[in-house]
Amino acid sequence: MAKTVVVIGSAWGDEGKGKITNYLSKQADLVVRYSGGDNAGHTIVLDDAVYKLHIVPSGIFDPNTKNILGNGCVVNPKALLEEIEALKKAGFSCDNLYISDRANVLFDYHKILDGLKEERLGARCIGTTKKGIGPCYTDKMARDGIRMCDFISPDFKDILKETLIIKNDELTHFGASPIDFDSFYEEYQAIADKIRPLVCDTVTLINEEINKGKKVLFEGAQGTLLDIDFGTYPFVTSSNPTAGGVCTGTGVGPTKIKEVIGIVKAYTTRVGSGPLPTEFNDEISQDIRDRAHEYGATTKRARRIGWLDCAILSYSVNINGMTGIALTLLDIFTGYKKIKICDYYTLDGKVLKAPCAKIEDFARCKPHFIEMDGWEEDITKVTSYDELPENTKKYIEKVEELTGVPVVIFSVGPDTKQTIIRKELY
Ligand code: IMP
Repeated sequence: MAKTVVVIGSAWGDEGKGKITNYLSKQADLVVRYSGGDNAGHTIVLDDAVYKLHIVPSGIFDPNTKNILGNGCVVNPKALLEEIEALKKAGFSCDNLYISDRANVLFDYHKILDGLKEERLGARCIGTTKKGIGPCYTDKMARDGIRMCDFISPDFKDILKETLIIKNDELTHFGASPIDFDSFYEEYQAIADKIRPLVCDTVTLINEEINKGKKVLFEGAQGTLLDIDFGTYPFVTSSNPTAGGVCTGTGVGPTKIKEVIGIVKAYTTRVGSGPLPTEFNDEISQDIRDRAHEYGATTKRARRIGWLDCAILSYSVNINGMTGIALTLLDIFTGYKKIKICDYYTLDGKVLKAPCAKIEDFARCKPHFIEMDGWEEDITKVTSYDELPENTKKYIEKVEELTGVPVVIFSVGPDTKQTIIRKELY
């Protein structure tokens, strides 16, 4: 069996994927992003230094690890070059980065259109990161996109000319100024020259490595409930961050996937608009926000806080075919007398064990909570499951009981060293 592990966010993202993927990437030979773009924000703490990655995969810190942006990603080359520059300044060469020749390029006009569309929606806005993600995937699906293979080829000039006719129509429709072709082309041609050496056939690269028995980590961005198909539509991103996205976003077949690890935060957070059934606003939620720095890595927005929602988690287990859970930020709960977990919802007198498709119904779901005793002990220095206080163990066991999936990793602090592995994945 191939040595492949998928790491996905089990809810709305920001579950601490960066930390877990960084931990696993130390064992992996390849780290592959398969969906999204620089809307993601992965915070990585390494030897007391904090790095915020948006599009570059988490394995970039190890020169022996190949880092790949798969065809399912939308790549803003300007943002990518900025991130590479910052990493180079910090001493990381980035020579170990590869971009799929089939990935779509995200241009400035995508960002402008993202902002204009949100503005037009007003109070009904999605609350996007305004990075241009939706407009770029829209172009991809409408077959108006420009892929990396074309971006770096001599055809780019002609393709861009055709594309800008359509894009300028859209921009002027929104009342924005049209883009001047000559200066736009000149700017992006220079960028293409810098990006060209990184672009290759990543389908062959990844599959050859898998066939050689190499260890591959597929690094999910965002989360299951932000998935365009399975998330809380329309308050979702425009790609498939769920495990199914690995196949379409990299060119690796489903039979080659071995483990799917869902990153689950001890509580739930959400940025942007849309329902969050277990949301609460009191001194504990504010305490959680402050202790765990629950402010967006990309947009700096305060994240909304809710108790752990096992209706969502069980749904996520099904969609992703989750084989294990990585439970993060357990240490944040230290000192709370009572902790709640939602096990199901009620809606119009009926019990619901998963979120409903219709967003208005989902917004009316009432969470049913199990209340558990908290713990007072500092758990940040714990190095094994056995060292945990009884009540922390009970919390972990409850998550396993409600989802039917083992907690294979748990984390008790921001440093990579504070990650406890109960089952080796590679
Ligand atoms: P977009 O991906 O910028 O189009 O934003 C769509 C929705 O996804 C918004 O609610 C964003 O806040 C959310 N979102 C996008 N990327 C992330 C992420 O990395 N973490 C959490 N939420 C995200």
